[in-house]
Amino acid sequence: MRTVDLFAGCGGLSLGFARQGFNVVGAFEFWPTAAACYRANFDHPVSETDLSNVDAAVAEIRAFSPELIIGGPPCQDFSQAGKRVEAERANLTECFARIVSEIRPRCFAMENVERARLSKAFASARKIFKDAGYGLTEMVLDASRCGAPQKRKRFVCLGIQGGEDGFATEIIESRLSKTPTTVRDYFGDSLPFEYYYRHPRNYNRRAVFSVDEPAPTMRGVNRPVPKGYPGHPNDACSLAERPEVRALTTAERAQIQTFPADFRWIGTKTDAEQMIGNAVPVKLAEFVAETLRLALEKAENVGKTTE
Ligand SMILES: C[S@@+](CC[C@H](N)C(=O)[O-])C[C@H]1O[C@@H](n2cnc3c(N)ncnc32)[C@H](O)[C@@H]1O
Repeated sequence: MRTVDLFAGCGGLSLGFARQGFNVVGAFEFWPTAAACYRANFDHPVSETDLSNVDAAVAEIRAFSPELIIGGPPCQDFSQAGKRVEAERANLTECFARIVSEIRPRCFAMENVERARLSKAFASARKIFKDAGYGLTEMVLDASRCGAPQKRKRFVCLGIQGGEDGFATEIIESRLSKTPTTVRDYFGDSLPFEYYYRHPRNYNRRAVFSVDEPAPTMRGVNRPVPKGYPGHPNDACSLAERPEVRALTTAERAQIQTFPADFRWIGTKTDAEQMIGNAVPVKLAEFVAETLRLALEKAENVGKTTE
């Protein structure tokens, strides 16, 4: 199925869909470093067009004749960390919906932070999708129940032209793992550490995690253990007793985001950390892609039996 990825970043979503057999033919990403990183890992073209210019974007995307449009519009304005104000960027969710409604591919998959689900921008996007004839499945997925060793919650909206609302709900529920994937489950016993440090947003939150639990969300910044780290009662171990505990490396964070070890990172370390933090875990993307594939197969079989 011909697929185009919008707001593609370094390509986490694309990689998951490609692994599930979708034919990704083009990507759109206006940050030159992320576009370069994407190009280093995929063979199809990446356009640096600004997708907020919907008319220009539609003309360019239409040339790929996509049957599926996927994308994760940027989420800073919805994110827990932000000021909880919906500003300009939230409108990119609407831009995604307008692009989909004008091109009318057979289906689409949109990913965003959990909070986006209840945002005004998504309410407006939902109306645009519905007016364009899409049946929708909306769900918050925890990546650790979808094969990634990370407690990262993401809102996913799938659409199929002419479908029923909730068309994929049962498929999703039947495929979520019963227990979350831990870091040790994913990497096995090859890990060189038992505990690691993830810098908290503030010291009311813990910062030390064990490999026997899912990792916390990999954000776009990575800091070493600060000299005066005061500790937290819920830390998985005390740094006073285990001074060897360190922050994860960029490569380790990428692998917790379930990128393969040979994925090529372009730009500075700060750029790579940002792209890693922005990305959809590849395993979560695969889960969403497989869900959509199964839903499309189901829709086709229903069509056949009612002919
Ligand atoms: C949440 S990240 C996407 C991550 C990607 N789905 C992945 O799995 O790696 C959003 C991306 O949208 C890009 N972006 C933001 N505004 C844009 C615009 N107006 N046009 C095109 N890309 C834009 C950002 O540079 C960022 O890389």
